[in-house]
Amino acid sequence: MRSLRSILLTGGAGFIGSALIRALLHQPHLEHLVILDSLTYAGNRANLIGPDQDPRLNFIEGDVGDEALISKLLKEFRCSGIMHLAAETHVDQSIENPAKFITTNINGTFSILNAARCHGVALLQCSTDEVYGPIVAPTKADESFPLNPSSPYSASKASADLIVQAAHRTFGQEIIIARCSNNYGPRQHREKLIPTLIHHALRDESLPIYGSGKQIRDWIHVDDTARGLIRVFEKGETSRIYNLGANCERTNLEIARAVLKTLNKPETLIDHIEDRPGHDTRYAVDATRSMNELGWRPKLPFQTGFEKVIHELSIALNPD
Ligand SMILES: NC(=O)c1ccc[n+]([C@@H]2O[C@H](COP(=O)([O-])OP(=O)(O)OC[C@H]3O[C@@H](n4cnc5c(N)ncnc54)[C@H](O)[C@@H]3O)[C@@H](O)[C@H]2O)c1
Repeated sequence: MRSLRSILLTGGAGFIGSALIRALLHQPHLEHLVILDSLTYAGNRANLIGPDQDPRLNFIEGDVGDEALISKLLKEFRCSGIMHLAAETHVDQSIENPAKFITTNINGTFSILNAARCHGVALLQCSTDEVYGPIVAPTKADESFPLNPSSPYSASKASADLIVQAAHRTFGQEIIIARCSNNYGPRQHREKLIPTLIHHALRDESLPIYGSGKQIRDWIHVDDTARGLIRVFEKGETSRIYNLGANCERTNLEIARAVLKTLNKPETLIDHIEDRPGHDTRYAVDATRSMNELGWRPKLPFQTGFEKVIHELSIALNPD
């Protein structure tokens, strides 16, 4: 079992990273949690709870491409492992401006990997189900599925996964990869599907849906993912890949309708816009390995977590 004594977490000011901070701070053996984040538009300092209140948290503003800085942090805090989540994550942006996805998601991961090797530290690479590309129903992609990415985002993540895997084969480096399905939950950037739909519905604005809206995603609550990432880091076999999914497939149109129903708004607000180029029809992962080998299970029922997100955003946007 890997030690959670002193962890370097990249991307902690983002959506999943901030859920992971909260989960890690509940771990009894954690002494240092070092957050490295460059605070891009997607990162938010307010997502980092209690840097003043919890003496175990240290926030460092910096780039994952800065190998010297990463090395310094690993040494200074005598880190026992790296959980690497920092990335450019928005598919639409990867179509408009792929270069920064290559820089951060591929070159940045390479820097993290090199620093981990120099210091003999285990690396958890946080990846995505999007690397498998579109999966035809009723099949679900297990970890042996070929990589078949469609967008610059998913291609950059698939590339990083391969570089990380090769470091194990060539150098014997201690790496583990987690591939997560679509996350929802608190503190998600409003550019992503569920927050966008809720924001628009609350303002009685039209809800933009790409194409037919029949694209299927497998939704998982971010707290379940955070527990899963900890489990993969602690117990995952070196060089192995673990899918994290909740077996909760919904079309984008179903999600839009559910938002409108919960907020008591008319379905006429749905606006089908031109489809995204290379838009994958369905993602679906088989998470049996994580369940059987790591004893992990997603806990939160979708309806409960989804209504909670809508409720919290409604209060945040309409405090009165
Ligand atoms: N959100 C999902 O549904 C989902 C699904 C599967 C996998 N993932 C993966 O999980 C990880 C986290 O995703 P998220 O949704 O929390 O992302 P996010 O966009 O909410 O947060 C990304 C964080 O990384 C930081 N960052 C970006 N570039 C950086 C750089 N060069 N140096 C340092 N920090 C940088 C940002 O400031 C931000 O805080 C990513 O690796 C993503 O590919 C996400």
